Amino acid sequence: MRHLMNPLDFTVEELDRLFDLAEDIAASPSKYAHACEGRKLATCFYEPSTRTRLSFESAMLNLGGQVLGFSDAGSSSAAKGESVADTIRVISCYADICAMRHPKEGAPMVAASRSRIPVINAGDGGHQHPTQTLTDLLTIRALKGRLDHFTIGLCGDLKFGRTVHSLIEALIRYPGIRFFFISPPELRVPDYITDSLKEKGIAYEEVIRLEDCMPELELLYMTRVQRERFFNEEDYVRLKDFYILNNEKMALAKDDMLVLHPLPRVNEIAVEVDDDPRAVYFKQVQYGVYVRMALILTLLEIKVE
Ligand code: CP
Repeated sequence: MRHLMNPLDFTVEELDRLFDLAEDIAASPSKYAHACEGRKLATCFYEPSTRTRLSFESAMLNLGGQVLGFSDAGSSSAAKGESVADTIRVISCYADICAMRHPKEGAPMVAASRSRIPVINAGDGGHQHPTQTLTDLLTIRALKGRLDHFTIGLCGDLKFGRTVHSLIEALIRYPGIRFFFISPPELRVPDYITDSLKEKGIAYEEVIRLEDCMPELELLYMTRVQRERFFNEEDYVRLKDFYILNNEKMALAKDDMLVLHPLPRVNEIAVEVDDDPRAVYFKQVQYGVYVRMALILTLLEIKVE
């Protein structure tokens, strides 16, 4: 039985197969419409979510399966003090696979160690968000035709943004990746990540102004400032509008640069940018459903001929 805690749990070859499957699902959805009949997905979300929870549920329903779960720790027995380890033992009696989001780093890993069903980390604190990374990689591969040899800018809250941490770890397995980390000094990418890039000889630069690297980028990954991870509101208010991508800044970018964002967006991308064909963050949402369908089939070892 396999779980997904980190994007690195899959080899590059396994990811290629997963993305091939996701692209086949996108091309021929009806072929997969009954693949999970009789199977159930539990979504156990101890933290708010729109995309991740609903895209998992949509994915399982598209596969002919059923869904159950909770979207708020307060409506589960966690509110009475039940541990994640006990909860997953119970969920294992109700469902065939579980997607779990939790504010504590490592909580889905604890669940996986006690589970009788595959557990998917749907985001754990400021640590990892592997299915967002699968979504990001599939979007890039589908729209650019490759995952190697890119100059990518990651902009915003690089300290607390778990999607950024997962994406960097995943991308460095492909050749020719060069990073620009664009953040205020307070929200720099953690040292453990830059230390690892130095060790591996991977090119990166840290800049404060988006304008300083915009013309060089082939991909721009915007992120919101993660209010829920700040220790005080004053710091959040000071930093929340540090970056606002607008049409004026987009004019500095290459004609074929793609703008991605895991969403939700707050103010960091002006709504006027949505009409720019280079803005692909809503297409990214659709790819998130296909890749989660492929992931459910893969972890449940269901093959569709
Ligand atoms: N991208 C993402 O994780 O969105 P949600 O928090 O809405 O699930």
